Order: sequence, then C-alpha cells, then structure tokens
Amino acid sequence: MMKKEYHKPVLISEVIEFLDPGRGKSYIDATVGGGGHTTALLARGARVLGIDRDEEAINYLREARTEKDLVLARGNFARIWEIANEKGFKEVDGIIFDLGVSSHQLDSAERGFSFLKSGPLDMRMDRNLRVRAWDIVNNFEERRLDEIFKTFGQEKFSRRIASSICSARQIRPIETTVELVKIIEKAVPRGVRKNFKKRKINEATKVFQAIRIVVNSELLNLEEALPKTVDLLKSHGRLAIISFHSLEDAIVKRFLKKETRLIILTKKPIGPSEQEITENPRARSAKLRVAEKI
Ligand SMILES: C[S@@+](CC[C@H](N)C(=O)[O-])C[C@H]1O[C@@H](n2cnc3c(N)ncnc32)[C@H](O)[C@@H]1O
Repeated sequence: MMKKEYHKPVLISEVIEFLDPGRGKSYIDATVGGGGHTTALLARGARVLGIDRDEEAINYLREARTEKDLVLARGNFARIWEIANEKGFKEVDGIIFDLGVSSHQLDSAERGFSFLKSGPLDMRMDRNLRVRAWDIVNNFEERRLDEIFKTFGQEKFSRRIASSICSARQIRPIETTVELVKIIEKAVPRGVRKNFKKRKINEATKVFQAIRIVVNSELLNLEEALPKTVDLLKSHGRLAIISFHSLEDAIVKRFLKKETRLIILTKKPIGPSEQEITENPRARSAKLRVAEKI
C-alpha cells in the first residue's frame, strides 16, 4: 500500500509564480509542514529555511529531504526574526506562511485535532505546550467557554454548547474528541442539525477551530510574526500568506494595509481553482495574499 501523503500543498503554482524562486535566492517557509511549498522552492534552485513548531514535521523532513540547500528549525514563527538570524537567513527574497494544521496532524487521531477521529483532547501543535484541549474543555468556566466559541469559532450556539459541556463534565471529565462531538451535536437545535447534515457540515467544526486557536495561541503568534517578516525581506522581497478562516485573513489584511513598507500585490485574495478544490477539498477555504517590500 502507498504511504499516505503528509500534506498536499495548496495554491502551489500561484505561490511559486509570486515568489519566483531561482538559483542564488533564499526563502523562509514559516510553516514548513510536509514541505510541499519548500520542495517547489528547492526544485527551482533556491535555499530555504523551513520552520515548524511541530517536532513530527521537522523529523519527517529531516528524513525525507536531504538537499543541502534546506535548513530546518523547530520553533514558533512568532520568533521568526530570531530563528532566521540564528540560521543566517537575513535579507531573504521571500517568505511563505501556510497557516493552520497539516493533513498529517488532522489525520493523526492521537493528536486530537479531528472531530472525525476518536482521540484524546489534545490539539497541541507543539507537544511542549502546557495547555491541551482537555484543560480548556474540562476546566474553563462556562462563561469563558461561551466567549471562546463565540470569538474564535463564530459559533452561534456558543452559550448552549458551553452549558452542555459544563453539565456533562459534572458527571465525569470529557476525555475524547468523539465525546465532545456528541455533546456539541446534542446542544445544537435539531432543525439546524438537519440543515448541517444536508450541507455536509459537521456541527463541531467551529468549536474545534476555537479550541485549537486557543491551545496554540494561533492569532497572537500571527500578529507577532507579521511585522518581523518585513525586517527579514530584502527590497522587492515578497511575503505570501495563505489563511483558512476569516479571523486569520482579517489579521493579514489589516497588517498589509497598515504596513507602509509593503505594497499589496493581490487586491483581492486569491483562492483555489475548481480543479484544485476537486482534487483537494481541504483547499476550499484557502486565501492567498501577497505583498512586496519597497
Ligand atoms: C497547513 S500546514 C503547512 C503545510 C506545508 N505548507 C506543506 O506544503 O506541507 C501548517 C503547518 O504550520 C505549522 N504551524 C502552525 N502554527 C505555527 C507556528 N506558530 N509556528 C511554527 N509552525 C506553525 C503546523 O505545525 C503545520 O505543520
């Protein structure tokens, strides 16, 4: 049997067209994951610094890719400036962020990212993080859960879901992703549930997104990283960012608008083609924004 692909990169030809890699050029892939974008950059003869906070991704790439032009670093992209300086990647030609989780992370039941697989409530991209999804689900106050689901999941039924979680955990702690999904399903009104089924949407999508964002401080890390990228780019160097939900995209859009050292190259974000969505449904919500340093 063929080994399952680690991650299928999204918007790859669009990213490569904007970043225009070539011999003598250097790039930072701030979310290297399974190395899809990085591989395309290397194939054009560029040098790449690949960063990921997930040890599994870095270990996978250390085995899978042996090109001497690839430098790998395990770390949080919030520290992109420090990491790039440590590794000698200053004044680069381009930086790519492909936000969110990889297919490998989603497909690994034991990581607890997926509402479709039974696993422990974990969701940490970096296993050294102290707070897991379990701690949020079992220890956070009802009001705080409601707020998290509303703010980071844009979940309409946040209050009902928070209340159901608190009732369930009074009997015994909620241990697995599937237990949590069942509680969410019951909390959502029946009519809405039916509508979701028709549209093939899982009721748990938004709550899982919200918990994941909090566990990994995803929005804070992005806000911290973006200004640092401009310091790392050479003049005419390009920054490409792929986001997967409106909260991330809003941060990127706001940043690009206010950063006076950047010129926006994508007036509207670029999305995947119909063909890419058919071949890779996970690309569906991807949005690419690109800017160039003056
Ligand atoms: C969508 S995947 C990237 C896939 C990659 N472009 C590819 O083609 O294989 C996102 C990756 O970013 C990593 N990541 C997310 N937030 C991060 C952060 N703050 N610092 C470093 N890596 C992060 C995740 O661990 C995950 O491996």
